[in-house]
Amino acid sequence: MTTWLSGGSAMFLVLASRSMVICPVVDAFAPLPTTFTTKQSFTSQQPAVEDDPNIFLQNGIIGSHNPSSSDQQYTSYNTRRDVSLYEKKKKKKGGGGGTSSKTKARPQGFGAALRELQKHTFRYSGSVQPGVQTPQRIVDDPAIMCPDYASDGVPKNASPMLPWIIEVKTPEEIVKMRAAGIVARECLDAAGRMAKPGVTTDEIDALVHAEALKRGAYPSPLNYRGFPKSCCTSVNEVICHGIPDDRPLKDGDLINIDITCYLNGYHGDCSEMFCVGTPSPEGKRLIQTTYDCWVKAMNFVQPNRDYKDIGGIIEDHISERGYSTVRGFCGHGIGSVFHTNPNIFHYRNSEPAGQMAPGHTFTIEPMICEGTAKCLHWPDEWTATTLDGKNTAQFEHTLLITPDGVEALTGKLPTSPLQFWEEESEVHKGIWLGTNANAKQKMKQLAPQE
Ligand code: MF3
Ligand code: CO
Ligand code: CO
Repeated sequence: MTTWLSGGSAMFLVLASRSMVICPVVDAFAPLPTTFTTKQSFTSQQPAVEDDPNIFLQNGIIGSHNPSSSDQQYTSYNTRRDVSLYEKKKKKKGGGGGTSSKTKARPQGFGAALRELQKHTFRYSGSVQPGVQTPQRIVDDPAIMCPDYASDGVPKNASPMLPWIIEVKTPEEIVKMRAAGIVARECLDAAGRMAKPGVTTDEIDALVHAEALKRGAYPSPLNYRGFPKSCCTSVNEVICHGIPDDRPLKDGDLINIDITCYLNGYHGDCSEMFCVGTPSPEGKRLIQTTYDCWVKAMNFVQPNRDYKDIGGIIEDHISERGYSTVRGFCGHGIGSVFHTNPNIFHYRNSEPAGQMAPGHTFTIEPMICEGTAKCLHWPDEWTATTLDGKNTAQFEHTLLITPDGVEALTGKLPTSPLQFWEEESEVHKGIWLGTNANAKQKMKQLAPQE
């Protein structure tokens, strides 16, 4: 993701040559750069969509393919706000580490003023609208290792310049990735148990924050590129990056809770759907289809295969069932850096994203839609919904490739609840933990004893 910020023109050449025609090089996580936001601001009645051929994403950053633009254009992301947040915190805490802002810096400038205005005139596509956010939570335990972006919002490490260059983790790093994955899973299970009618997404966020800290972990979303909360809660038509607020969950809501924990220098990233109260048959079918395409894609993972081929498996499965797959966000490599190579596209593509190899850690996190997969980006610069307001679903694991297959580092634990989509899957019945010997052994232990 930061390749992008510092990678400059070489990256531009690589990306431009292969993606200008095809469409967005994609990924999964960032607010909009100024160029995009400004455009959106001027067209509030005609929502901005991410399939503009001039807009693409790389390891989570939306960029622009305007060939006449300078490198500066790619780094336009949120800088002003991040800097002011940092200054505010420095004043308060005397420059100490951790995320400590209790209040949000007041947005500045013309763009910010426009966004403020837009909040009141914006045409939301469905039933979900932004609520009231509580102040950003803080991490003040000196024993918790904070990621490099915790205080100023800016991740410092660049991804390798070429998209097919992928870091191989050492055995020591894999031990730490496993630990981060387990903590993320425990937090996700705890959050999921709260998904009941009347509970607000902010109450879920408070729990996630506390559960992460309790385990010595930093909740990775907190201040990541300025993200205001400790997890993402995406309800109904929200595709991803929903910000927890005071909206109470309602019977029939479908919610994705996306948790990333940073433990001892490494991130574990996972998400899952939860049904609030009783789901409709359509809601169940959407979740089942999303789950099944995701498991099919994960089953495909083994050394020497191409990352680009994951997308076709997902798209074939869902399009046969009448759904669409989001192109504006993608899965990603993960480790000491939150978002890095490879990019994992969840649609048929021929991007040179490299070959799978033992020691790679990355996510698969398809977002599947009932109607259009085009996105509407909210003025909060994070929340992405479907343009038509129809529902969408997502699952995510952090995966590790081994010589004999793949395993989920964020896989379910013996204490994790079993959901209907796991029991009723046509692809894999019961909890999926991977395809390698280690995963198979664990799955055997999880299966109900006869
Ligand atoms: N967890 C998301 C992902 O799957 C990223 C969230 S970044 C945040 O990649 F800043 F929105 F939290
Ligand atoms: Co995630
Ligand atoms: Co992710």
